[in-house]
Amino acid sequence: MIIVYDSLTGQGKKFASKLGYKAVNIKDYQSNDDPVVFLVTRSFNFGEIPKTTLDFLKKFHERVIGTAVSGNRNWGANFGKAGEVIEKEFGIPLVTKFEMGGFEVDIKKTKNFLESILKNP
Ligand SMILES: Cc1cc2nc3c(=O)[nH]c(=O)nc-3n(C[C@H](O)[C@H](O)[C@H](O)COP(=O)(O)O)c2cc1C
Repeated sequence: MIIVYDSLTGQGKKFASKLGYKAVNIKDYQSNDDPVVFLVTRSFNFGEIPKTTLDFLKKFHERVIGTAVSGNRNWGANFGKAGEVIEKEFGIPLVTKFEMGGFEVDIKKTKNFLESILKNP
């Protein structure tokens, strides 16, 4: 399993680095890399999926076991909305939405999800 992160200002990268698995920038992921991917991405412009993430999902959505989405509650109903759109459009579970580099509760929830899925694939 590998963590792939799409992070512009570094919050998602910080979150990815706390999960305890190898993490790579979405721009560096190659098709011969680990085929079990957990995606950390972000919300942009009223809940849109960033283009980098959309391009990645078009190619690799079948490899993605779940997402964690970075956002800011100041965006109200659009907080982390990209995660909901990804869940709907690609059928990939949204594990958590987080602010900044993620709080302990977000990290724990994500780690638990990853552990359970790796035990019972
Ligand atoms: C132009 C712009 C649009 C944004 N739109 C949203 C949004 O719709 N929903 C949201 O939750 N956060 C939104 N944000 C906040 C970012 O998602 C948030 O800062 C996030 O932590 C960035 O992640 P990163 O540091 O990994 O790039 C927006 C930020 C910018 C600069």
